[in-house]
Amino acid sequence: MILAIGLATLIADWHDQYGPIICVRFGSLKIIFLGSYEVVHELLEKRGSNYSSRPQFLADRVSNGLLPTFLPYAEKWKAHHRLHSSLLTLQASQQYQALQEVESLQLVWELLEPHADFAARFQRYASSQIFALAYGKRMPRGDEEQVRELDEIMAGILQGINLGNEVFPVLKYLPRPPSPDHPTSLLSTADLWYNIGALYEAGTDSTAILLEVFMLAMVLHPIAQRRAQHELDTVLGTTPRLPALTDLSSLPYTRALISELLRWRHPSPGGLHHATTAADFYRGFHIPGDTAVVANHFSADTDPALFPDPLAFEPERWLRNPGLPVSAFGFGRRACPGRYLGWNSVAIAVARLLWVYEIVPQRDRLGREVVPDPWDLTQGIGVRPRCVRARVRVRGGCIGVGERRGIVERAWEGLGGDVDLRELLGV
Ligand code: HEM
Repeated sequence: MILAIGLATLIADWHDQYGPIICVRFGSLKIIFLGSYEVVHELLEKRGSNYSSRPQFLADRVSNGLLPTFLPYAEKWKAHHRLHSSLLTLQASQQYQALQEVESLQLVWELLEPHADFAARFQRYASSQIFALAYGKRMPRGDEEQVRELDEIMAGILQGINLGNEVFPVLKYLPRPPSPDHPTSLLSTADLWYNIGALYEAGTDSTAILLEVFMLAMVLHPIAQRRAQHELDTVLGTTPRLPALTDLSSLPYTRALISELLRWRHPSPGGLHHATTAADFYRGFHIPGDTAVVANHFSADTDPALFPDPLAFEPERWLRNPGLPVSAFGFGRRACPGRYLGWNSVAIAVARLLWVYEIVPQRDRLGREVVPDPWDLTQGIGVRPRCVRARVRVRGGCIGVGERRGIVERAWEGLGGDVDLRELLGV
């Protein structure tokens, strides 16, 4: 288990043994891990003014101190954050819904193709939204030059974020992410480039990973899948059509399923480092200033006091107790500025995939279903299912398979391949 899901579960085991606040030394680096939702809430949120920085080693070693995500809590980060927040408010995110509906229509249409690579299609889906918002240009294929360029740069940045860089200083000499002088035609100034780059880096993979997690969960939990489909058919059944984002308020089980996805397999289960600005005392512990503090998502999300039978995938827990905390978007002042956009992006894709498709395990050569290992996950800052052996087929239900397929095809043809972004975004 530890090998399969890495450091996050190892730290969770230590929390079980030593309590919700533990200090771990990695070579010369000291990190304080927080392992219960209550402690995370009290420190990172209630005392947020002191717990909203990032450790200096992240700012220095990742992106030459330019990527806002890793900047310390100071004027420069605040300026970046203001820009991010103004682009991504709840209200602004509502304006982006029409774009998300076009992108999710393309997604479900692409998956009509037999053997479509759904992980690649999810990546395109997530990338294209950020591209369209940042650069005013959709990415209809997903393998466009600019996407490849950004993906390579971001992979370089993400490789820079691991404890190994600090634990084994020799790793500092591995190839670095490109400097702001790196020739690129995408943006004219380094800061703006990194401001937009941060949205791409933070928003693309997390969304795509959650959709892969969704496929894994649906293959493993067909009863939850059928219950959500039944809800969709009941709510939309009389006038069959693809669900829209505005339908989500009438789909409590589907919303619960999305909350459970966000809890069950967080895309960064180990959490992103915060850091203290000044020293603090809490529950008898001295927490020094300028120290890395990490809220381990895996621990907070599997806290048995809040989530009984925490490893089970059980959307019903959110119906029984709608007040359960969602940790997926992080904490306090460093919480994800893209949470409304991100939630909508996952929600509309999930609702439409469930409306159109039955998601079932792949079969081996002998025709037997291959049930994926729920813990076969990649390592790193973004943790995704290693290989989801799933396939999709258009489902029947309250309408026939042909009619359902026809609704998707006609909606896509109705767009005529010509999407006027200005009109869509109302600008
Ligand atoms: C649905 C998927 C998403 C999830 C689960 C997610 C989760 C997170 C988490 C856990 C953090 C770190 C919070 C902390 O340090 O406490 C974060 C930060 C961030 N996220 Fe998201 N996110 C998602 C989508 C997005 C999207 C769509 C965008 C933008 C388009 C975005 C932009 C950012 C940025 C810019 C930061 C860095 C904040 C800072 O300056 O420190 N995220 N996100």
